[in-house]
Amino acid sequence: MTVKDIFETMDYGAAPESAGEALAWLKARGGIAGNYVDGTWGPLRADIDVMNPATGERLAGLTKSTPDEVATAVAAARKAQPKWAKLGGHKRAKFLYAIARLVQKHARLLSVMETLDNGKPIREARDVDIPLVARHFYYHAGIAQLMDDEMRDREALGVCGQIIPWNFPLLMLAWKIAPAIAAGNTVVLKPAEFTSLTAMVFADICTEAGLPKGVVNIITGDGDTGAALVASNVDKIAFTGSTGVGRAIRAATAGTGKSLTLELGGKSPYIVFEDADMDSAIEGLVDAIFFNQGQVCCAGSRLLVQEGIAEEFHRRLIERMAKLRIGNPLDKCIDVGAIVDPVQLERIKTLMATGGAEGTVHQPCPAPEGCYYPPTLVTGLHGSSMLMQEEIFGPVLVSTTFRTPAEAVQVANDTRYGLAASVWSENINLALDIAPKLVAGVVWINGANMFDAAAGFGGVRESGFGREGGWEGMMAYTKPAGKAVAIKPATKHLKPDTVAVLDLDRTSKLYIGGKQSRPDSGYSEAVFSPKGKLLGHASLASRKDVRNAVEAAHAAKGWGKATAHLRAQILYYIGENLSARSDEFAARIAALTGTPNGKAQAEVEAAISTLFTYAAWCDKYDSAAKPVPMRGVALAMKDPVGVIGAFCDDRPLGGLIDVIAPAIAMGNRVVAVASEAYPLAATDFYQVLDTSDVPAGVVNILTGNHAELAKPMAGHLDVDAVWSFSSADLSATIEGESAGNLKRTWVNNGQSRSYPARDWLAQSTEIKTIWVPYGEG
Ligand code: NAI
Repeated sequence: MTVKDIFETMDYGAAPESAGEALAWLKARGGIAGNYVDGTWGPLRADIDVMNPATGERLAGLTKSTPDEVATAVAAARKAQPKWAKLGGHKRAKFLYAIARLVQKHARLLSVMETLDNGKPIREARDVDIPLVARHFYYHAGIAQLMDDEMRDREALGVCGQIIPWNFPLLMLAWKIAPAIAAGNTVVLKPAEFTSLTAMVFADICTEAGLPKGVVNIITGDGDTGAALVASNVDKIAFTGSTGVGRAIRAATAGTGKSLTLELGGKSPYIVFEDADMDSAIEGLVDAIFFNQGQVCCAGSRLLVQEGIAEEFHRRLIERMAKLRIGNPLDKCIDVGAIVDPVQLERIKTLMATGGAEGTVHQPCPAPEGCYYPPTLVTGLHGSSMLMQEEIFGPVLVSTTFRTPAEAVQVANDTRYGLAASVWSENINLALDIAPKLVAGVVWINGANMFDAAAGFGGVRESGFGREGGWEGMMAYTKPAGKAVAIKPATKHLKPDTVAVLDLDRTSKLYIGGKQSRPDSGYSEAVFSPKGKLLGHASLASRKDVRNAVEAAHAAKGWGKATAHLRAQILYYIGENLSARSDEFAARIAALTGTPNGKAQAEVEAAISTLFTYAAWCDKYDSAAKPVPMRGVALAMKDPVGVIGAFCDDRPLGGLIDVIAPAIAMGNRVVAVASEAYPLAATDFYQVLDTSDVPAGVVNILTGNHAELAKPMAGHLDVDAVWSFSSADLSATIEGESAGNLKRTWVNNGQSRSYPARDWLAQSTEIKTIWVPYGEG
């Protein structure tokens, strides 16, 4: 027998990792996972069984926390928060650093516990999950250290409720807890009921690190416990999990003033062009879809392969899949482990039983008995096939073909999700042309599943909103410093007993698609000065006008691609044209509000300055290249959000300019609803827009009743974000209605505060992280 023969016939021997230390750890705690509140354990009850999915054996009991127990944890966090925030960045940094060190010290226990509890291969827990956990705490120790200087105008939110899923139990915990406590918040975190054990080890680590009591609180339980946490007295909810639960949380928090970030599902495209390095693309794909048994929110679960290479690509992929090793996840040679729970296995089987017949199913690598599902490829599907659209959350890759780059983009974006995407091509021009066109929060060029604490991660559309990681992730755990004040609704001047008739009819119209148009209802409302003088009539927009304005805004999507220089020129031009008519606008403001002329003039001057400010920002709100640990860069590109609906405050001109200027500077299109009490300065502004080269549809202005328009605007599926600075508190309506397409919202909760330019800019952009590895061997 030659060495070659030996290599070819040699099989892998099992190399199991010992579970002894982890099982002893559980035994020492009475075999129960329960709450860690205010630095102490309890209550500990075995309400739910925790199973090892790979063997079906019971690992521990789990406490299902009641709403009262949740409230106790939140109270502990509330009590601890001011002192934790006052410690200052450096002292907090030392605690985060200590936690990072201890995670490394206990890496083996953590990896084995994760594998026992979740079923993921020990190789992944040991080499991916736990190192990334440590990296996250190190990175955020640095953020804590620097934030007193770098985030001077921001402060902690308070108490954060955090709910995490079962696919990366400790990693998701780290993604949630590290930025929150770095910023000076305290947390109450609920791990998923299937996988709470590493959170218990982490609680021990917090004690070992000497973290002050109440800064990190962990409560165990299922969805009911999660719902109780959502309803509790917290300042923010950060959730990762299914889109359905995310939507329910959006609805439950609407109008409560709680901040919210959602990291939800995905159906991420994996696009392979015919000039791709096929071997690398196949290896990448194995990682993209079979990593963690495909139970990954950003799994490359939708293969789009160019027609000319599809047959060969599929053939070679099937050959590669046949070599995957599936089985006991504690074995270091295993590639694919167990599915987290029989419930999830059943969900995968049901989806396959319903949708598999639409294509051809390939399962070249059989799965062992038990809670396992074989690596699967389904070929011959259409973009609209059920399996191409539904998140399966298992080791199932679905595939279709495309002919041209344009078709690839179209099929890739034909999904309600927008989390991640991979593009494979040796042509960097092609790859960098496609990446910006993909609707996704993360794009990997010639790669998949690359993560780092320095690079933002998160989605758009029904994949949720908010970013985790990087400086951008800190926006979600901080708020502008200083107090907000309750808004006093502006006085709408009512009709006096006798009204002088105007010599000319002055009914202002709506401004839609660059044209003045009559409201669909045909109704208008008289507008009076404080002394009862009739100033004109303002149109009352309705649901139909919102729809028309959104359609016009969509048609103007070329604006997002206009150069920053051009956008700046147009903003300056608007400012210049407004300046030429400043006396006229000041007089109008004075007439509408009764404010002295000097103050009205100041409002116009401020509006011109705002236009200049955002003209200046157009080409200075820089994207970034993140120093991630690989040969290459992760580009944090600042994309426009899309179509923004905005309800203006009651400064007749200032309220309008404040929303329009940053939004259009960053390439968005706007449907602005002017001040309800004083609409006529906004309608005068149409002429300024007409003479300033603003492309039709980029700015659309409606007048009318805010409360009536809030619902159709926030419910519109083609609106990407809704802002409200209105003096009518529209927050509950907007946040509640936004649950439909999970659009971003920015509402005032009836409070007024002045935001720095960077907040406006952040609200006007989505960070898209594009990973570009490079190098020649
Ligand atoms: P899930 O969304 O129900 O659970 C995630 C977390 O939310 C868990 O901690 C759970 O206890 C909690 N939760 C459940 N209902 C809640 C409620 N009403 N209020 C507050 N918290 C609640 O996810 P599940 O059922 O475990 O998985 C179902 C599907 O969700 C999967 O098949 C997959 O498609 C998707 N999923 C997506 C994840 C992602 O990272 N995007 C992670 C986990 C699941």
